[in-house]
Order: sequence, then structure tokens, then C-alpha cells
Amino acid sequence: MTDDSRTVEVYADAEALAAAAARRFVEQARRAVALRNRFCVALAGGSTPQALYRRLALPAVAQEVDWQRVHVFWGDERNVPPDHADSNFRLAAETLLNRVAIPSRNIHPMRGGQDPRAAAEDYETVLKEAFDDTALRFDLMLLGLGSDGHTASLFPESDVVRATASQGVSRWVAAAYIEKLAAWRITLTPEAINRAALTIFLVTGTAKAAAVRQVLQGPHAPEALPAQLIRPVEGRLIWMLDAPAAQGLDPSPAAKA
Ligand code: 6PG
Repeated sequence: MTDDSRTVEVYADAEALAAAAARRFVEQARRAVALRNRFCVALAGGSTPQALYRRLALPAVAQEVDWQRVHVFWGDERNVPPDHADSNFRLAAETLLNRVAIPSRNIHPMRGGQDPRAAAEDYETVLKEAFDDTALRFDLMLLGLGSDGHTASLFPESDVVRATASQGVSRWVAAAYIEKLAAWRITLTPEAINRAALTIFLVTGTAKAAAVRQVLQGPHAPEALPAQLIRPVEGRLIWMLDAPAAQGLDPSPAAKA
């Protein structure tokens, strides 16, 4: 299903989705390296992307990517040290980065486990150094979706979401205290995410079906459904769903998705 701004693809199961996402990753990496001699990707956290990361680490797939020219960033991070079980950096390191020939200088983690506001400021500097001040543009932005409609660490009714939904937020990174988690998070803002050339939501499982339907086909309510703030300025937006996550979607052409 495609409308002018996004494509929705449904795969039989999570493994088929991971295989298709790996092919997209390889294609986008090749395209970016050919054009600009580097590929800048922002990784998603949480459990869903693990299948993709493990697949990218398989020798037969990894050999298709010029890892020397890959730069890895994160869409968000929990406020925990990099060796913590909840760390998105640790997840990516264990399932992918420790298994491919990516130079450590090309790995740009958010600094979790310290002052979250300072970490957000630091990451803003990391991004400004990695991209020219005005040219932030990830070649690929990977995102997940929470069952409450959050993405990255843009949670419903949070300050950065309210600010974005009302007057917009110019900064690229924010620290957010998430009441329901009683925890701080560091997150890219929609301003940063929406500059990407290609943004892919990876969503699997029945538990996400209601959120998928609300975000894609429900009323526009971004403060309650922050994933609706993800509307690339110029890039492509692809929702890659497995059948259970897509089961709530209305397939009729009249549906919004
Ligand atoms: C995080 C992620 C978050 C995640 C969703 C879905 O740090 O947790 O950035 O946005 O993508 O919560 O998580 P699962 O993939 O674990 O369902």
C-alpha cells in the first residue's frame, strides 16, 4: 500500500521481514557509498531489530557492505552505561558491530548512564561534527514502534513531543524523563529523524497491531501517538510489518495507510 508519503509492506513473519530489511540496508549502503563514499545509519533500539542486526552480521550478508565506510549512530538510548543489559548500544554491539569490520571510530553511541541533558548536548555536537551544521541527513533511519505509539524515545505526552507537535523543535537531540518508565532517555527529535533519506519502521507481533492501525489509519493525534510525527521532509518512509502487526489494518483503498 502506498500513498504519496509512505509505503506499507507486510511480510509473512519476522524472519521474512528481517531478510527484506537486510536487503534494503545493503542496497542503501551501496547507494550512499557510491554517492558520498560513506553510509550514515541511525539504529533503532529495543528487541525487534535484533533479527535484522544478526542477519547483517552473517558473513554472506556482511560481505556485501563496505563496513569501513559505514558510520553508525543511534535513534535513542536508555540512560544506562554501555555495558548495561538495557543499553541499545550494547544490543547493537553484541548482535552486529562486534561481528563486522567496522572501525571503532565510525561508531557514534549516545552517552548513557550520566547526566542525560549533558549527553543530549554532547550528541548534538557529535552530529554537527559528523554532518555540516545544516546538513544532517541520515542515509537510513531505523525505527521501532511501541504498543503505545512511541518511537525512538518520543513517548506520548512527553515534553519533546508536546513541543514538536505545537511549535516545532529545532534541536536534533533531546533528553526526556519518561514518567511511565520512571527513567530518563536520550532521543533524536523528529526534526533530526525527518531529515533522513530513507526511514524504515520495523514492527512485528500482534501486540503492536492496535498501535499500527492507530498510527497509520487513525486520527492525527501526534501527542498521543508520537510515531505520527515521523514524516520525512524529502526522504522515503517505509513501514515494514509482519502479518501479526498488520492484522488490524483496514486493507480498503479508502483507508489512510
Ligand atoms: C527503545 C527503542 C524503542 C523501541 C520500541 C519497540 O530504546 O526501546 O528505541 O522506540 O523501538 O519500544 O521496542 P521492541 O522492538 O522491543 O518492541
